[in-house]
Parts: sequence; C-alpha cells; structure tokens
Amino acid sequence: MTSQASEDRDVTPTDPVGRPLPEFPEPAPLASHGPARIIALCNQKGGVGKTTTTINLAAALADYGRRVLIVDFDPQGAASVGLGTSPHELDRTIYNLLMERGARLEEMVRPTAVPGLDLLPANIDLSAAEVQLVGEVARESVLSRVLRPAEEQYDVILVDCQPSLGLLTVNALTAAHGVLIPLECEFFALRGVALLIETVEKVRDRLNPRLQVDGILATMHDPRTLHSREVLARVHEAFGDQLLHTVIGRTVKFPDSSVAAEPITTYAPTHPGAAAYRQLARELVARGDAA
Ligand SMILES: Nc1ncnc2c1ncn2[C@@H]1O[C@H](COP(=O)(O)OP(=O)(O)O)[C@@H](O)[C@H]1O
Ligand SMILES: [Mg+2]
Repeated sequence: MTSQASEDRDVTPTDPVGRPLPEFPEPAPLASHGPARIIALCNQKGGVGKTTTTINLAAALADYGRRVLIVDFDPQGAASVGLGTSPHELDRTIYNLLMERGARLEEMVRPTAVPGLDLLPANIDLSAAEVQLVGEVARESVLSRVLRPAEEQYDVILVDCQPSLGLLTVNALTAAHGVLIPLECEFFALRGVALLIETVEKVRDRLNPRLQVDGILATMHDPRTLHSREVLARVHEAFGDQLLHTVIGRTVKFPDSSVAAEPITTYAPTHPGAAAYRQLARELVARGDAA
C-alpha cells in the first residue's frame, strides 16, 4: 500500500471555487497526427482573454507534442502580432483563402517559433470578408470548407474569433467541434454570455449539429480581491460544471509576453501563468476536448 503525505493529512486539492481538483495527467504522446478537433475561442466582448488563451493554450498543447494550428479570425490580427508576424506586411492571409477560389491553405500557413505550432494569419483585409461573404452560396460554411485540408495534418485547430457575433463568428462556430468561452472575472462579465450560448445553440440546430460548449474559462482572476472571488462564484452558480477547473490569474506577464511576441510558456516558462495554461491544456485533453 502506498501512503502519500497528502493522503495522510487528508488534504484534497481544490479549485478556486472549492471543488475537488482532479489530477490532470500529462497527455500521452501521439503516434500519429490528425484528424483535428476544431475549437473556437468566442466571446463577443473584447478584452476578455480570447487571443491570450488562443496563443498560450496552443503553445502548451504543442509542448505536449500536439500539432496545432492557430487560425487568426479577427481583422485586428492580434494573434498574428502576438506570434511575431507583422500583419500589414502580409499580402496573403486567411482573407485570400476565404475569398479566392483555388487558393491553397499551404500558401498561407506559416510556422511559428514554437515547434509544432503553425499560424494562419489575418490582417485588416479580413474585415472586408464579412461584407463580401454575405453574397456567397453557403456563406456560413466557408471557413469550414477551407479548413478541411488542415484537419488531416493537425491535432487541434484553435480559431481566435473577433469580438462580435457576426458572420465571421458564425463561420467559426460552423467549422468548430467545440466552443471555449473565456470570461473575465469582472462585474459585467456575465452579460452577453446567455446571448452567446443562444447563438451557439442556433448554429448547432441549423448548421453544425456536432457543436458543443467545451467550457467556460475564467480569466484575469485575482484571488486577493473579494470582487474577483464573487464573480467566480456567480459564474459557477450560473454555469455549474461548464466552468473549467483551471482559472487563469491576472498578471502583467501576459501583456509583457504579447509585447515580446511570444507565448508565456517560452517567455516565462516557470511563471504560474505558464503553469495555468499547461494545466488548461491537460484539463481539455482529460475531458476529451483536445487530442
Ligand atoms: N490573465 C491575464 N492577466 C492580465 N492581463 C491579461 C490576461 N489575459 C489577457 N490579458 C491582457 O488583456 C488584454 C486583452 O486580452 P486579449 O487576450 O487580447 O483579449 P481578447 O482577445 O478577448 O480581446 C491584453 O492586453 C492582454 O495582454
Ligand atoms: Mg483578440
């Protein structure tokens, strides 16, 4: 019989809302790659941590040996900038892939400094797609169609959505298997989540029956403030086990690593922020939401 010190003292680790925290094992290596699971990072509110989560979750999954593609699906191009590309210098982006017949994914995809992590970049050109797609046949499923060749090569594809519920986001939801909703631990965070979930349900009913909400990720949590703890408790009350165990703390290391154009996992690998995104990667793999 093994007796671990923690069992002797009968201390069960808990998550920040007090639920028992399961152990999320290190993911087993993959013998082969693909087909990819597509996860859309969605919240129509800006500044909640969609792009930060896309970059750092992707980097953590790549560190666990997964082949990961980030699709920058925001005309602001923050994910592209955050990984060191200069979007205004790009002449071929996701926009061309969406709009040009015969455009090939391999022409647009770029490697990043993180082994195993590739980027399909975006820039302001993408804002025109929202208007131009309106006249297309099957306008909601254009992204799904152009990503199909990528599904064979990658284990996970993360789509970083823009802060809106417009046609681009509907395209992301139509392409996705799952939606991950980052939620800032702030007073008004819950506003709009009901509308987002309603949109997810509509897309599931009408366009993409496989779509599911993978989870709600609390971000920018500050356990020292009563406010942050209260918001987290409210989110748990409202969404139950859709709230992931992993919670991302508020730290200036995230903006710092964006300025350095690196994921936190390489910029500050021993920082708790890096550990939190590695835990998120393990939690999603353990839930079956990532390969
Ligand atoms: N956990 C965090 N702690 C502190 N700042 C954060 C955290 N996550 C994101 N940020 C910062 O907040 C801002 C908005 O985050 P971002 O990921 O760009 O949000 P979104 O993509 O939802 O608009 C950025 O400046 C980012 O560096
Ligand atoms: Mg963003």
